[in-house]
Amino acid sequence: MVADRLARKWDRRHDVDTAGSIQLAALDVVGPHRNKGNEAVCTSPRTFDFIMKSLPQDLQGHTFIDIGSGKSRTLLLASRYPFAEIIGVEFARELVEIARSNIKRFRDPSQKCRALSVVEADAAAYEFPDAPLVVYFYNPFSKDVFDIVLKNLVSSLERRPRNCFIVYGSSSHRAIDWARPAIREAGIFVELSVPPMPGFLDAIRTIDYAVFQFRAAA
Ligand SMILES: C[S@@+](CC[C@H](N)C(=O)[O-])C[C@H]1O[C@@H](n2cnc3c(N)ncnc32)[C@H](O)[C@@H]1O
Repeated sequence: MVADRLARKWDRRHDVDTAGSIQLAALDVVGPHRNKGNEAVCTSPRTFDFIMKSLPQDLQGHTFIDIGSGKSRTLLLASRYPFAEIIGVEFARELVEIARSNIKRFRDPSQKCRALSVVEADAAAYEFPDAPLVVYFYNPFSKDVFDIVLKNLVSSLERRPRNCFIVYGSSSHRAIDWARPAIREAGIFVELSVPPMPGFLDAIRTIDYAVFQFRAAA
């Protein structure tokens, strides 16, 4: 209740609509993976800022990608950091429309990146750009879809080695239990040591998270 009230207050302050939890069943979805997707719930500001402290501070030049970007809360939070570009990938048309409208309206004096966009696509069909990357997942979908996205990311990094961090967050679905071994088994990512997530009042659910860095084979 408190977290939801804080989310709505954050929305009013920034003139956007990101709060609430939205079931996918009623939404118009692109691609064949509707039944594998999880409901749209946002990452909280304090959760996001805590995660960002685990990443190197020199991320200028990196592109931040939120896989399953919902109504864009995480894209907006990321825009307060000096990323070169911020991209959301979302397969639910209604959420893409709300996200694009939020991006236009968002006002925050601490905003550092204004190159924000949302790609309407099934994440399994998304081709990663050739830039250095921070790829963010918050519980978007089941393991079979994640395996496809991870394989696409690995191919992209093998074709063009570059800096890449993966942040994987999960809450109620305990997805971290299968995501962590899947990322390790890819054989090209090293897990960074990160502090446990505190229980923030503004978080609908506390996120367990893991951060990985790409290490090109020697
Ligand atoms: C738990 S929400 C995360 C929202 C946002 N990333 C955040 O942290 O605030 C998961 C989102 O993933 C989207 N999603 C699920 N499966 C997808 C897929 N195959 N392709 C693209 N988006 C997907 C859902 O529509 C939902 O908006």
